[in-house]
Amino acid sequence: MSEIFRQIDNIYRTNGDLSYFGEGVSQIEHAWQCGQLAKTNSASLKLQLAAWLHDIGHLLSKEGETPTLKGHNDRHELVGSNFLKHLFPEAVFAPIALHVEAKRYLVATDSSYSEKLSSDSIRSLALQGGPLSIEECQNFLSKPFALDAIALRRWDDQAKDSECSLLSKEEVLSELNDLMVSCS
Ligand SMILES: [Fe+2]
Ligand SMILES: [Fe+2]
Repeated sequence: MSEIFRQIDNIYRTNGDLSYFGEGVSQIEHAWQCGQLAKTNSASLKLQLAAWLHDIGHLLSKEGETPTLKGHNDRHELVGSNFLKHLFPEAVFAPIALHVEAKRYLVATDSSYSEKLSSDSIRSLALQGGPLSIEECQNFLSKPFALDAIALRRWDDQAKDSECSLLSKEEVLSELNDLMVSCS
């Protein structure tokens, strides 16, 4: 395993058990479930990896478990994508960078989406700037990988199943390493 992959592996090994903001799953369970949803929806390997790593910024920014409760936006989508952009192609880091904007787009354009948002997602929406305006929606859709970011965002919102049992951490991290090798 390369040094940087070992570093990512270690981030999940060390901090993966942190809770995912009161959603009933841990960070590593949320990451793995999101990656699994991408896989079962026949996403490319790069998008599967983006789904897996989309919230790594929360673990890198060391803001604690629920920064939104303190009224703080940790900008985790940018922290994560900036960390990953030297390691993986744009098809991996761009959807990660856009996954918060994708939420703001979906809230603006799909009323049924807003109804299903979790309480933390609703709280963070205000901190993240609220729904996009019509012009901002058009601008968002013109960005490369915006559609991948929307797909990722929908899996993200589903990847909070506290009943879904995780494989062992070793198996899960082995899957992650295989994906990283495939996409690097
Ligand atoms: Fe996120
Ligand atoms: Fe997430």
